[in-house]
Amino acid sequence: MPGRVVALVPAAGRGDRLGGDTPKSLRLIAGTPMLVHAVRSLTSARSVPLVVVAAPPSHVQAVRALLGVDVVVVAGGDSRSESVRRAMAAVPEDYDVVLVHDAARPLVPAAVVDAVVDAVLAGHEAVVPVLAVSDTVKRLGSDGRVAATLERSDLYATQTPQGFRRGVLEQAHAQDPRAAAEATDDATLVERLGLPVWTVAGADEAFKVTRPADLLRAEAVLARQSPAILPRVGVGTDVHAVDPARPCWVAGLLWEGLPGLAGHSDGDVVAHAMCDALLSAAGLGDLGSLFGVGRPRWAGASGAELLAETARLLGAAGYRVGNVAVQVIGNAPRIGTRRAAAEAVLSARLGGAPVSLSGTTTDGLGLTGRGEGVAAMATAIVVRRP
Ligand code: CTP
Ligand code: MG
Repeated sequence: MPGRVVALVPAAGRGDRLGGDTPKSLRLIAGTPMLVHAVRSLTSARSVPLVVVAAPPSHVQAVRALLGVDVVVVAGGDSRSESVRRAMAAVPEDYDVVLVHDAARPLVPAAVVDAVVDAVLAGHEAVVPVLAVSDTVKRLGSDGRVAATLERSDLYATQTPQGFRRGVLEQAHAQDPRAAAEATDDATLVERLGLPVWTVAGADEAFKVTRPADLLRAEAVLARQSPAILPRVGVGTDVHAVDPARPCWVAGLLWEGLPGLAGHSDGDVVAHAMCDALLSAAGLGDLGSLFGVGRPRWAGASGAELLAETARLLGAAGYRVGNVAVQVIGNAPRIGTRRAAAEAVLSARLGGAPVSLSGTTTDGLGLTGRGEGVAAMATAIVVRRP
């Protein structure tokens, strides 16, 4: 069928300029691998039914698992152009429009993808998205001095996806592979054939992730598009009266010899304030509504148990705990003496998320200062799971 579109995604680069041990295309942006963003950008365009990825050879299985059965995954090569050729070799006969899109441009808008496809379908055999260059560009001599200043109004930066009639791209890549290896995009190879390359408007969001600051830029773009990826903060407070007849459970620890706290549970103000902060951050309500008198199953549950159940509820709602900070306000217990042990117990209940615990007094003032009660205040940060 004429006009069938396939997108090739070279994703086999190491990302030397980005640094780190993970191949660049698998680095996370807002919790999701760059390659997944790139493939989604393509498949969200109206015009792209099939995607073929050239993965880092060491990660082919992992990339297959990541992208699922609808995406074809092959092992990439030593150069970008070799990766493109290997992806092209996996394209079925009946696709005659080929896009090539760098995994390193994870956030290209669907409108750019569609504009490239439309231009190819309109009869242009090679099409690239371009953006006017905003820097003044100079050519340097080998001595490091400026040799020339280029006329900026003529200069455009090239983006991807670049779109081609299949035959043109195949012919372009059939040239001397050593010379092709130097090319940083596919249009360059078409230009070498002396064929015309058409342009459409690119987009700022289609920028290429090259250096570490580009990862932050990508997260900023995503946060602007969907605030749901931003971390969410929550607050929680709890106060219990001192009851000398009960054991003292605070911050998941038993404090021998200290008066306990009243309550229908163990009265662990620290765990309770943490639960409320976590539920508040995730927008899931509060301790009273989830575990209160209407829910007999949780009557008498320890603070630590409630914390574990809260973490489970957050997980089920699609959140991961970032961290929790909690402060005990009271004359006793003295947190400093067992801080590390308490933090470890509380953190374990949250699946290992960091917990920081501090303590303070109110200088003899108020209900905590008079020793009538102990209070705790917590803040929590949660993030949406990718
Ligand atoms: N690419 C590829 N196979 C290679 C080299 C690069 O598929 N042998 C891909 C990259 O994964 C990337 C695109 O080509 O999606 C553009 O390359 P670039 O931005 O240069 O990425 P890297 O080569 O990974 O980065 P660096 O040059 O910093 O190592
Ligand atoms: Mg490279």
